[in-house]
Amino acid sequence: MNRRTFLKGASAGIAATSLLGSKAVANSAKELRVGLIGCGGRGTGAAIQALNADPDVVLYAMGDLTADRLQQSRSGLERFGDRLQADSTRQFVGFDAFEKVIAQVDVILLATPPVFRPQHLRAAVEAGCHVFCEKPVAVDGAGVRSVIETATMAQAKGLSLASGFCWRSAFGHRALYQRIHQGEIGKVVGVHATYMAGQLWSKERQEGWSELDYQLRNWVYYAQLGGDHVVEQAIHSVDKILWAKSDETPSSVMASGGRETRTEAKYGNIFDHFSAVYDWADGTQATLQCRQMTGCHMENLDRIIGSTGIAYVDGWANKFVIKGDNAWKYDGPSNDMYQTEHDDLFESIRNGSAMNQGVDMAHSTLAAIMTRMSAYTGKVVTWDQALNSQLELTPAQWVGGPGVDASVPIPGKTKLI
Ligand SMILES: NC(=O)c1ccc[n+]([C@@H]2O[C@H](COP(=O)([O-])OP(=O)(O)OC[C@H]3O[C@@H](n4cnc5c(N)ncnc54)[C@H](O)[C@@H]3O)[C@@H](O)[C@H]2O)c1
Repeated sequence: MNRRTFLKGASAGIAATSLLGSKAVANSAKELRVGLIGCGGRGTGAAIQALNADPDVVLYAMGDLTADRLQQSRSGLERFGDRLQADSTRQFVGFDAFEKVIAQVDVILLATPPVFRPQHLRAAVEAGCHVFCEKPVAVDGAGVRSVIETATMAQAKGLSLASGFCWRSAFGHRALYQRIHQGEIGKVVGVHATYMAGQLWSKERQEGWSELDYQLRNWVYYAQLGGDHVVEQAIHSVDKILWAKSDETPSSVMASGGRETRTEAKYGNIFDHFSAVYDWADGTQATLQCRQMTGCHMENLDRIIGSTGIAYVDGWANKFVIKGDNAWKYDGPSNDMYQTEHDDLFESIRNGSAMNQGVDMAHSTLAAIMTRMSAYTGKVVTWDQALNSQLELTPAQWVGGPGVDASVPIPGKTKLI
């Protein structure tokens, strides 16, 4: 039985059972209509992976804030021929594009800047869609609380909710973390993680753009839109710290950070480096160092210290080693982790197993947000403070025009809210 036959067979059996209440039921025996919200680099990649994951997936609707990004994405997908069904009647532009896309499809791919994620995710799950949800899933505690609620809602509806914490889909990582969870390095007592990267792209201001247009095009530089780079990028390391701890959440964090090289106004209000120490109730400690600076050493490493061994992860080089009582080295295949994310998602939709990574993705996001809160304020931040934080970075309503406040936080002066 090939994969296609298996998927069709499996899907026929689930129509009347676990997917009740989900729009996917109607289409599960044949095509699945997928909608993309946020047609940038990652969204376009996610659409390709969705189309490759299952032969009966069609890209049915697309939504973006701007027509140029949508068209750019669409031209990158033309090779899918008649499976690219987002014709001009199903291309939506603007802050309300997400609602129009969601109304058309069974599965939603969410890949806008992070600030929109809680709202878009809620709308998708309320409408009964399965979801692929890029990381980070929020930029503040309010957003995380909303996502946790939505994840519970998705569970109750039997919907699949897959996260974009892509390293969890890389075969080498999976093999290593499985060994850690099986006790091959004893009890995990510490983790040292680094995400030392270079500077990111930035887009020149163009005539006719409002301040908000400019900021949204350069969303990575505004904490209110992207969360700051510890939430947007180094969150992968934060996620792997939590993974090493079997997703047990830290009790507090003490972080510092600042803006050393990326100081011009065009770089908004985010920092360019952070360092953090996390504590768990059982005495485990983890450290994280991350930066986005050009001309500096770059690495992305995790060293997981156990009572009987140490695990070394070099994600970029795909190297995984355990030293100690149960010495081991990964010699299995490497995979396209982004593709595996979608293979798993669509398989779960077809076989009705409703994978749900919602709470874990929200927790990893909160751990990164609490790191930013601690560095911005100069205070120790507990998990409960971050989760119950009344800081709301997301405007109640999106209207064009003025942008977000671009003042740079000052540790010791910026208030912990
Ligand atoms: N998992 C990974 O390895 C990985 C890699 C890259 C990016 N990402 C994440 O994917 C997301 C998107 O990143 P990107 O690199 O594709 O950014 P991008 O800027 O290339 O794309 C974002 C797109 O969203 C659109 N957009 C903005 N606001 C919108 C709204 N309200 N409604 C609809 N569309 C809107 C933009 O116009 C743009 O086309 C981010 O959360 C980022 O952190 C994850």
